[in-house]
Amino acid sequence: MARVVSSEAVSDTEPQACRPITLWGNPVLRRRAEPVTVFDASVQRLVDELFETMYAIDSGVGLAANQIGELQRVFVFDCRDGLVAHVVNPVVEILDSDLQDGGEGCLSLPGIGTDTVRALRARVTGQDAKGNDISYEGEGLRARAFQHETDHLDGKLYIDLQPVRSRKKMEKEMRSSEWFGMHSIDPRSDLYREVQGFDDEDFDKADEPIE
Ligand code: NI
Repeated sequence: MARVVSSEAVSDTEPQACRPITLWGNPVLRRRAEPVTVFDASVQRLVDELFETMYAIDSGVGLAANQIGELQRVFVFDCRDGLVAHVVNPVVEILDSDLQDGGEGCLSLPGIGTDTVRALRARVTGQDAKGNDISYEGEGLRARAFQHETDHLDGKLYIDLQPVRSRKKMEKEMRSSEWFGMHSIDPRSDLYREVQGFDDEDFDKADEPIE
C-alpha cells in the first residue's frame, strides 16, 4: 500500500491507516458533521487517513470525514489537476450563475452514478489542520468536488439532487446490491472493486472520478 504524501509533515509517528468506507444506509452519512474547534494532532491524523483511504480507490478525487465514520467537518480532495489539499470547517461559495452538468458518483454509493447539475465555479474557505485560514477556487470537477464533499458534511448526497423518479431507481438498484446492509466496506476488497467496476476490462470505470 502506497504511503500518502501530504502537503504537511505527519504530526506523529503512528502509521496512517486506510479506513473502511461507510456505505449508503449507514446513518452517519445522513448526519451533520460537527465543526472542528480544537486543532490538535488528531486533525492531521484524520486528514492523513482520509488521503490514505481516498487513494486506495483508483479514481477517488475527494473524501469527506463521515465517509470513514468521523462526524467532523473535514474533507480532502485531489482532482488530478495539480492541487492536493484538505479543508477543515469548509464553507462553499458559488462564484457565478454558470452551471455544469456531468457525471457524478460517490464512493459511499458504489456502482451507481448519474449526470448531476452543479455550479460551474466555486470557492471553498475554511482552515487547514493547524487552524490556519485557507481558501481555494475551482472550476469544473474541482468545483463539483467542493460542493459534493461539503454536502456530505451536511448529511446530503448527490442522489438528493436528482428528480424523484431517477432517485428512486438508483435507490432500488442499491437495495439489490451485494453490499446493501453492510455499514462499511474495505475499499481495497474484491467486492468493492468489483462493484465499482475497477477490474472490468471492457468497461473501465477507473477513469471516472468518484468522490
Ligand atoms: Ni461522495
